[in-house]
Amino acid sequence: MRKLIIALAAIAAMNQAQAAEDDPITTIVQETCALCHGEQGEASSSIYPRLAGQNRDYLAKQLRNFRDGSRKSDTMNDMAKELKDEEIAGLASYFAAQPVLSHRIASIKKPLNAVGYYIYHKGNKFADIPPCASCHGELGEGDENLPRLAGQHKRYVAAQLDAFHERKRTNDNQIMRSIAKRLTKLEIEAVSLYVSGLKPQPKP
Ligand code: HEC
Ligand code: HEC
Repeated sequence: MRKLIIALAAIAAMNQAQAAEDDPITTIVQETCALCHGEQGEASSSIYPRLAGQNRDYLAKQLRNFRDGSRKSDTMNDMAKELKDEEIAGLASYFAAQPVLSHRIASIKKPLNAVGYYIYHKGNKFADIPPCASCHGELGEGDENLPRLAGQHKRYVAAQLDAFHERKRTNDNQIMRSIAKRLTKLEIEAVSLYVSGLKPQPKP
């Protein structure tokens, strides 16, 4: 009996070593996701969102929503279609653990950035827009269920605000839709510029 247990333990250890060698999550990242999102989630182009340091539960939720089609995206619906629950969990943890990156920070003296700062921290009470900071955090770090905006690509942020406005992004609750529909084009450009330059803080 003891010999059997030792033998089983040895087999388990071998399996573990093998699994570490070709970790299935790293393989998916390298073979699929890296093409657009970069191997460390830095994104290969500004049209793709940065995933590095994005919050884990938020990432997992978006992947589930792409998989079941409730968040529509020509590209991502295909990418997520075959993912198993444990792969989604693994991919979310992988990208959440990558170092967050920053963009060149636009000067607050730049008028467009100043408008972005104002919207982000004060909202626009004349149009019933709450400060973004009240949910996404003063530093744009978000929380487990709320996306980090700090350091995200400006172009991606603006595109998502348009998608919320046009009801193309419908997986989320009503919150972002009701906010985005009150933002003017100028405000969208401004706030997207501002958050892209927010210095991402390392995870605690
Ligand atoms: C061919 C390019 C491409 C590949 C490959 C790709 N993605 Fe994406 N991904 C996109 C695009 C484009 C978007 C933005 C979708 C939209 O506009 O709704 C996106 C969005 C996402 C988001 C949402 C991010 C957010 O901030 O809401 C997650 C999470 C994501 N991808 C994960 C992955 C994972 C994990 C893989 C690998 C299995 C992958 N992607 C492969 C192009 C790609
Ligand atoms: C009342 C809370 C709340 C406020 C205020 C708020 N947001 Fe959001 N925002 C959310 C939630 C919740 C989500 C995502 C929900 C989900 O997918 O589960 C989100 C998602 C987003 C996304 C998508 C991020 C990505 O990675 O795809 C962007 C961009 C965004 N918000 C920008 C803003 C901006 C700009 C403002 C201010 C004008 C703002 N938000 C104000 C709650 C809020």
